[in-house]
Amino acid sequence: MTNQADPQVAHWHGFTQMADHDSLIIEHAEGCWLTTADGEKLFDGVSSLWCNVHGHRHATLDSAIEKQLGKVAHITTLGMSCQTTEDLASRLSELTPGDLAHVFFSSDGSSAVEAALKMSFQYWQQRDDPRPQKTRFLALGSAYHGDTTGAVSLGGIKYFHQLFAPILFSPVRGPVPCSYRVPDGSEKTALEHYTCEIQQLLENHHQELAAVVMEPLVQGAAGMITHPTGLLRKIRDLCDHYEVLLICDEVATGFGRTGKLFACEHESVTPDILCLGKGLTGGYLPMAATVARPHIFDAFLAPATDSRQFFHGHTFGGNPLAAAVALASLEMLTQPTFLDSVIRKGEYLRNRISNLLSDHPHVGDIRGRCMMVGIELVADRNTRRSFSPELQLGRSVCRRTVRNGVWIRPLSDVIILMPPLVATEAELDMLATVVAESIKAETANLVDQATDNLH
Ligand SMILES: Cc1ncc(COP(=O)(O)O)c(C=O)c1O
Repeated sequence: MTNQADPQVAHWHGFTQMADHDSLIIEHAEGCWLTTADGEKLFDGVSSLWCNVHGHRHATLDSAIEKQLGKVAHITTLGMSCQTTEDLASRLSELTPGDLAHVFFSSDGSSAVEAALKMSFQYWQQRDDPRPQKTRFLALGSAYHGDTTGAVSLGGIKYFHQLFAPILFSPVRGPVPCSYRVPDGSEKTALEHYTCEIQQLLENHHQELAAVVMEPLVQGAAGMITHPTGLLRKIRDLCDHYEVLLICDEVATGFGRTGKLFACEHESVTPDILCLGKGLTGGYLPMAATVARPHIFDAFLAPATDSRQFFHGHTFGGNPLAAAVALASLEMLTQPTFLDSVIRKGEYLRNRISNLLSDHPHVGDIRGRCMMVGIELVADRNTRRSFSPELQLGRSVCRRTVRNGVWIRPLSDVIILMPPLVATEAELDMLATVVAESIKAETANLVDQATDNLH
């Protein structure tokens, strides 16, 4: 029985079984470290859910907010703005790939995706040569784009999404373009195989499709599913050929995680609409953005009496405090050597854990890009068979890392490492050591149990 007076259950946590919840209260955070109310120090191995690219309490970010507080904390951006928000829109339009230029602000990644869905639908309804039948979306297998209803409709993770099917719209479902598990019997390369599947879906459905929605390069919440190199470029070309918009969701991959400011840059791709969130404010304040190319934006321009404006807007979209800290974060991310150092750190971390792949019988794959790392634990490396979900192995590995001073959160049996981009080599060493030891310890117990069962 839960005690209703217990303050530990007053806060209902997302994606958390509240009947089995160990409360962890963080009182202070500095750099890459969190300090609990009990004075225990924890390394923030997932950048507080993939957000705090510069770590915590960074002097430059703190002072950007303080400075903005002296001017204005909140105004609506429905019909007005402040200079800081205008400056951020201009900066994003300069820094995002190609001719992406028009920035629509919201408060979280799910909302950035919702805005992109409605924007692309409304575009086809009212552009000069309207295509009103384009009302559906193609989403990849195991997709995750957030938790609002439209974003969940795109979602393809059974465990998170299937329950809600009766209240969702149905997308055209693409493959899970995973380099680690290319379907048996395919004689094509992974790139050819997935490109053919997506091409076939576009061939069959392009007339009803408003857009393809995808995370470029790495599907984070799906378990760091890493696409074959070149797939993003192929999908861009297919979208052009079949006249379907491309929406790239860089809520997880954006702001330096993959070693470039945006993952799309790796394959010189400009999506029609780009969704940003998480690292936009360096993880300080809730802010997200949906950035559109001119041909999308122009379809919404008309005399006020024509009712062609974008019928969407969020109370806190473009909030000045969030804009101020986002500008300061972007300033640091775009310093000449910053991304080079991120690339070096990504390589360093991978080198430190690479021996797990050769030595450890239950480490099936180490994947992701740069400072986005997934370590998949499997029961059998040859067949790539997963452990039974009842074992909750990923969870027990992460519980052990927490006991050893490293806060990480798994996705099933994929151990996720997304440290702040400013983590030092010494901190990455410690992260790698604790994670490797925890995997060894938790899987050794499994071997012991299996052996016991034999006797
Ligand atoms: C790729 C992607 N899109 C959208 C979202 C949703 O963002 P938020 O939780 O800020 O709504 C997430 C969150 O993890 C994400 O990884």
